Amino acid sequence: MVTAAVEIRNVTKTFDDLVAVNQISLQVPRGTTLGLIGPNGAGKTTLLRIICTLARPDEGDVWIEGRSIRENARAARSQIGFMPAEFGCPRSLSIAEYLDYFACMYGLNTHERVQRIRDVCELTVLSGREQVMVRGLSTGNRQRLLLAKTLLHDPSVLILDEPASGLDPRARNELRAIIRTLASLGKSIIISSHILPDIEDISDRIGILEAGRLVLEGDLATLRASTGTSHRHVRLRVPAEDLSRARVVLADLPGVTQCAVREQTIVLTSEAANSNYLLAALLRHEVRVQQFVEDETNLEDIFLRSTAGKVT
Ligand SMILES: Nc1ncnc2c1ncn2[C@@H]1O[C@H](COP(=O)(O)OP(=O)(O)O)[C@@H](O)[C@H]1O
Ligand SMILES: [Mg+2]
Repeated sequence: MVTAAVEIRNVTKTFDDLVAVNQISLQVPRGTTLGLIGPNGAGKTTLLRIICTLARPDEGDVWIEGRSIRENARAARSQIGFMPAEFGCPRSLSIAEYLDYFACMYGLNTHERVQRIRDVCELTVLSGREQVMVRGLSTGNRQRLLLAKTLLHDPSVLILDEPASGLDPRARNELRAIIRTLASLGKSIIISSHILPDIEDISDRIGILEAGRLVLEGDLATLRASTGTSHRHVRLRVPAEDLSRARVVLADLPGVTQCAVREQTIVLTSEAANSNYLLAALLRHEVRVQQFVEDETNLEDIFLRSTAGKVT
């Protein structure tokens, strides 16, 4: 039997009379990345803390590489690297001292520590900065250091809670590239974020949480299909004299459900898997295409469509 890296089954967690996580089941196949999105208070952090054995579920269980967090929390934990959203950093240490401190806590010997610290600095693009003090680090470098610490014991499962919050665009890109590298090394990753384009870019599958419930889950195509947002919107500009001919050609094509001219622009909706054939038909009819813009539904559209703005 192929076990998922993380198997979450019917997990519920209540705080007094608030159901923060409500009957959630999810799987993360080995080597894949699951993106978790949802409004503030949706239960993302609570779910991630349960997976990391930092909070106990009231009901349900989680298996990490086949080991139950209820029955064998220590073994499950040894496979997990957790990067929490809020994280105190002792500022009077250098990067190397900081990492060495945690590597000691993981029980690594001197030789292993030197090697692992070198490896994690390389992975998080901190090599050469080992002697820099934590105090002076930019937010981007600090997040990379926290990720480096998360990788010290070489966990197979990474749980990253909003690792990119507060980062500028360049730091975000750098972090996203590092996460992609980790995925390509075969890590199984769960990442929560409010930065939907990043989640769309790095996740194999996406889970949308709202008020403790999993409202949608799947790859982007599945999410598009289940929210009825799989059609494409295309905007075309052609010379005025080609306009009506172009509209007639397009309106007749299979998959085209709407085709109108608005302010010298053709606006159409298509249900086809791609839009190349639209362009091909226009070229066949010698229409001079000046602009062809396709807007596919993105994760933000799906998110807005599938959540009602409920908070717990
Ligand atoms: N330790 C706690 N005690 C009481 N309520 C909590 C605790 N942790 C989280 N909550 C509540 O649970 C809900 C989900 O919170 P959280 O998991 O942090 O959501 P998210 O990470 O999606 O913003 C919120 O309403 C929050 O106030
Ligand atoms: Mg949170």
